[in-house]
Amino acid sequence: MSANLIVGTQWGDEGKAKVIDFLAEETDIVVRYQGGANAGHTVKVGDKKYIFHLIPSGILYPNTICVLGGGMVIDPEALFEELEELHKQGIETKERIRIADNAHLLLPYHKIIDAKREDSAASGQKIGTTRRGIGVCYGDKVNRWGIRVGDLFSKTFFQDRLPSLMQNKSKILTQLYEAEAINLDEMRTYLEKLKERLQGMLINSSYYLNLELASGKRVLLEGAQGTMLDLDYGTYPFVTSSNPTTGGALSGSGISFNHLEEVIGITKAYTTRVGEGPFPTESFDEYGEKLREIGQEFGSTTGRPRRCGWFDVEVIRHSARINGLTSLALTKLDVLDDFDTIKVGVGYEIDGKRVSYFPSYDVENIKVIYEEFPGWKESITDCKNLHELPKNARKYIQALEKFCGVPIHWVSVGPKRESTIRLK
Ligand code: GDP
Ligand code: IMO
Ligand code: MG
Repeated sequence: MSANLIVGTQWGDEGKAKVIDFLAEETDIVVRYQGGANAGHTVKVGDKKYIFHLIPSGILYPNTICVLGGGMVIDPEALFEELEELHKQGIETKERIRIADNAHLLLPYHKIIDAKREDSAASGQKIGTTRRGIGVCYGDKVNRWGIRVGDLFSKTFFQDRLPSLMQNKSKILTQLYEAEAINLDEMRTYLEKLKERLQGMLINSSYYLNLELASGKRVLLEGAQGTMLDLDYGTYPFVTSSNPTTGGALSGSGISFNHLEEVIGITKAYTTRVGEGPFPTESFDEYGEKLREIGQEFGSTTGRPRRCGWFDVEVIRHSARINGLTSLALTKLDVLDDFDTIKVGVGYEIDGKRVSYFPSYDVENIKVIYEEFPGWKESITDCKNLHELPKNARKYIQALEKFCGVPIHWVSVGPKRESTIRLK
């Protein structure tokens, strides 16, 4: 069978989890393929609200298997906390969570170093990370100093690699960050306990997923963050340390590209970003404030206010090229219900010349060209199909579709499952 992919097209928080939850009903296996507990994925069902950081958002359907993929960095403390929270809310997770044995473990020292680096960075150099240790853990992976989940089960790891890894980390902690050294015995005990708790959850994810696909199972790949936070194609260095884009979905899950069917780009009807870094269509006036207030734009992981601005066509076109988007899901359209006019960034100029790509440097030199669209000034949350939407809302959707060059297949008009319009 085939795999569909959900990818964020902007700077994260596009409403990916809401769409994943909507699509997971028709899915057997949901796979998170990158990132870690920096993600905050919110699903609202009835009066209940769930926020996922590591566990795939498909967990709310009782028969769905949820895989934490090999491209992830997994903080065991965050994982167990999340599992406990789900149990409290009556969600049964036993036998439903599988963890790729090549995923990396994110350990307490990663979080210490992340926070120390952010605290000591000069003004203008701070990234505004979630302080979840993400960049430090991926750094260890790239440096080949990382610890993978499977290492816990290796016959030689504890004796052969752990002591020198901890010695190296201790040196960095004490000499660069004035932090405490790692106690090797305590770390060994911590990891042995972790091994016991993870027993029975591990999979060789590439083998497992390709086999399940071949036997007819339907897979949904769940991206975290978004294209503009991609390590290679985002606003570097103000990015996360993984690839949320299609390439990262393949390497982070071990699924072969020829299983991929739909690549669905999740796109807010405006734009937000949390943390530092360039944001061409950011609105510093009362409209930015209004978007934040109506859209409740506060981070699900850190609670920080999100920066808000208008829809940016060039961002979505960049995202469509990199990801090979086959469709878009336009979310939070209802947040625009009360605007007289809605601005859209339809293009860029740099040094007086039109550019039709997202530049890799000097992004702050971009001058955005805007077009204005009339608002619809009525609530659309109860609309069930395209025809029930006000004329100006339909015009806005059609204009975005045309500008971006990707068909819009879903429109989300509220946070709940049922507030979703399937267009095509
Ligand atoms: P994700 O990280 O991409 O999954 O997005 P987040 O969960 O961080 O942020 C999206 C927020 O918008 C959540 O609070 C959702 O409940 C909410 N949301 C999702 N879709 C809609 C929508 O169509 N309308 C409104 N008003 N809220 C939405
Ligand atoms: P979801 O999956 C929005 C941002 C941080 C910071 C930068 C680097 O909910 O869309 P990191 O902790 O990853 O090293 O921080 O990336 N960031 C997100 N912004 N949504 C997210 O995830 C994010 N995950 C990280 O704010 O600017
Ligand atoms: Mg989020």
